[in-house]
Amino acid sequence: MRDPLEVWRIAAEPYYRPIGDECTLFEAAYAGRLPVLLKGPTGCGKTRFLEHMAWRLGRPLVTVACNDDTTAGDLVGRWILEGGETRWQDGPLTLAARHGGICYLDEIVEARADTSVVIHPLTDTRRMLPVERHNELVHAHPDFALVVSYNPGIGSGRLKASTRQRFCGLEFGYPDAEVEADILMQESGVDVELASALVALGRRSRRLAGHGLEEGASTRMLVRAAALVRAGVSPAAACRMALVAPLTDDAALRDALSAAVDASF
Ligand SMILES: Nc1ncnc2c1ncn2[C@@H]1O[C@H](COP(=O)(O)OP(=O)(O)O)[C@@H](O)[C@H]1O
Ligand SMILES: [Mg+2]
Repeated sequence: MRDPLEVWRIAAEPYYRPIGDECTLFEAAYAGRLPVLLKGPTGCGKTRFLEHMAWRLGRPLVTVACNDDTTAGDLVGRWILEGGETRWQDGPLTLAARHGGICYLDEIVEARADTSVVIHPLTDTRRMLPVERHNELVHAHPDFALVVSYNPGIGSGRLKASTRQRFCGLEFGYPDAEVEADILMQESGVDVELASALVALGRRSRRLAGHGLEEGASTRMLVRAAALVRAGVSPAAACRMALVAPLTDDAALRDALSAAVDASF
């Protein structure tokens, strides 16, 4: 039989640079099949961490990028019309629960409130998923685990206490300068001088967070700036494109960031 989770399997080891003991802690949580909440600012490595862990544990990773249209029905599944007949199609959560994958609900706070109806019974000792539209109660596979992420800086008030109390939490932040420079070098192949200069700029922008900027430059943005430089763009132009333009529409903030860029390169 075809492996229904085949497309979600991770073939090669995703590079992840551990920041603390998060890998060991996650393994312990997975051993007990405890649901895990990954908290942290955007672009700090949460998704990469989980890809790495799923690979390490040999489990497929079924990822859902939640948005404000994501309903319980989207997670669970739907009837589809195929050649004049209706056929049930498992949604990502059902697929993972049925066949033993790790289901990752990225940015869970974005999803509609009705998703808690399907998350709750899966995150307590029942480990089951009511699939009402299919008139079915799915008992989660022994290998199934649920992981969700959210960014406490944005919309955190919307994760209900009754939901968050069901999870263990791992907190993520931007790494130390040296580690972050290492990540940039690994991810894009730039040298240590450029990586360090980009990291210094990123850290400066993070100090503006809360002072007009919602968030500073993420590790992801710095990796992209580095990639642009590798593609032949000058460092200053790369930073304007990868950091300054996406971070703000405010003219004064843009000028302040641009000045920081010019001072750095
Ligand atoms: N600890 C890390 N090890 C390796 N790469 C990292 C790490 N932290 C961040 N990155 C880089 O930053 C990018 C964004 O990370 P990602 O996991 O997508 O962030 P998040 O899910 O927190 O928004 C990754 O694609 C990777 O290039
Ligand atoms: Mg992510």
